[in-house]
Order: sequence, then C-alpha cells, then structure tokens
Amino acid sequence: MSGGGSIVLGALAPHPPHLVYGENPPQNEPRSEGGWDVLRWGYERLRQSLATKEFDVLIVHSPHWRTHVGHHILGVPHFESRSVDPIFPNLFRYDYKLDVDVALAEAIHDEARHAGLTAKMMRNPHFRVDYGTLTACHLANPSWNKPIVGLSSNGAYFYFSNEVGNEQMALLGEATRRAVEKSGRRAVLLASCSLSHRHFTVEPDPPEDMSKEHIYHHGQYLWDMRVLELMRHGKTRELMDELPDFLDQTESEAKSGALTWLLSALGMPTYPAQVHAYGTVIGTGNAVVEWDPKRSAP
Ligand SMILES: [Fe+2]
Repeated sequence: MSGGGSIVLGALAPHPPHLVYGENPPQNEPRSEGGWDVLRWGYERLRQSLATKEFDVLIVHSPHWRTHVGHHILGVPHFESRSVDPIFPNLFRYDYKLDVDVALAEAIHDEARHAGLTAKMMRNPHFRVDYGTLTACHLANPSWNKPIVGLSSNGAYFYFSNEVGNEQMALLGEATRRAVEKSGRRAVLLASCSLSHRHFTVEPDPPEDMSKEHIYHHGQYLWDMRVLELMRHGKTRELMDELPDFLDQTESEAKSGALTWLLSALGMPTYPAQVHAYGTVIGTGNAVVEWDPKRSAP
C-alpha cells in the first residue's frame, strides 16, 4: 500500500433490475422491448464521464446485502454465478463474473475497525453477490473490466434509529476514504440506492409499458426534488440534516446507508452534483447523480 490514492468520482447509482432488463445486455436472459429510457440515458452519461477518468476500482455499497451484525466486505478474488432477482425473477436472470480488489477491501475493513465499527471480511467463495451490487456495477461499467469492492448494508437504521444509522455510515465513509488514500488506488464510489421508494404492487404487461410508469404520489416527487436541489447546490450537510425526515416520509432506500456512506467518503461536498437523470421505476424515484471532486478545485 503506497499512499496517494484518491476518489476520482462518486455516484448515486440506483439499481432497479428493470434498467438492465430494458438494455438487453447479453448477460441477462430475459428480453425486453426497452423502457425506462431516460434513466438509462442518464447511465450512458455516467459511463461517458467515467470514460474520461482513469480509475482502478469500483467500490459499491448495496442495500440488498443486508447484514445484521456489522459491516461486511467481499473478500474473495473472483466470483462467478447467476443472479436471479428474488422480486423480479421475470426481469433479471444475470450471469456475472467479477474480480474483487481484496487488498483494498481488507484495508477498508481495517480502517472501519480502527474507527470503532464492527466489520468482517466475507470469505465464502460460494457467496452469491447481491443484485443491488451487480446492477449498479453493470449500469456504471458494463464491460466489468475493473475489480470491485462490495460493502454490505448494516441495518442500524432499522434496529436503532435513522440517526444511529447515519453516524455509522458516516464513519464507514470516512474509513473508506482513508483506505483509498493510503492504498494508492484511484477509486469510483457507487451508492446503489433509489431515492423515494413507495412503489406499485401490480406489474403491467409487458413490464416495460411506459404508459403505466409514474411517481407513486406527488409528495414523494416533491421530496425527491428537494433532495436533488440540495445536491445540485452542494448543500450536502443540509441534506444530512434533513435526511432522517426524508427517510421516514418517502420510505427511501437511502435508509440502507449508501447515500450517507458516499457523501461522507466524499467529505460532504460543497461543490455542485451533476444530475444525469431522474425517473421512476414502478413508482419509485431514481436519480443518477455524479460528484466529481475536481469540481471542488478553485
Ligand atoms: Fe432495491
């Protein structure tokens, strides 16, 4: 570990499997007629942005790897299997092969423990990587030509409170940043979560029938726009202050801690975020948002 590493880009990278389904990549078995195009164009813009950066690794925090005790980190060099979404097996049956930057994963683990968090390396070679990790990584970097580090979502928000959850995820974000800096890696961080998360319970036929797609209700839309406005103006500390209300009022998937982890790792940006897209998936609010630390330079 040589020092001199940095976070070269952070992104809010929501993971509805619908976006992979709509794209029809070769790894996904179900075929679609498209759908959710604006969000998928947003991911195209994120990919274009990543193409202008040199980076070594993607670090992703996913709500769908829920751990009850502490923060777990993928610690096996290679994973290969088929992932079937438990809620949408009709949309996502995805064959994956991925490499893990185990040295960086261990460094994040050590920094997290040093910060007083409970952390554990996940060493089971037969572990099935969750679809929240896979979908965010595919949508950001479909070539899978970089290793990843996968972080679990500890349920502290649910077991204790929003405030306790936020405190833990902020520590995890700072630990992640320290590990990246010491490692010499150039890292891209992905917070794999939606914004508002109330959703419809009946699926149209076909699922990509966009005449049926809209926000679940207006209050949810207003909250999402409030959050994006704060991001666009670099008011992330104000966003953190308002986050507990947002989580409660919209059932937001940011209750996984992914967003807090990301913003903390980025040092609570005061520079503007770039919103590549906002759109709904089964009524949930999703935004592809980029933070480029270079924009903080004077
Ligand atoms: Fe999800």
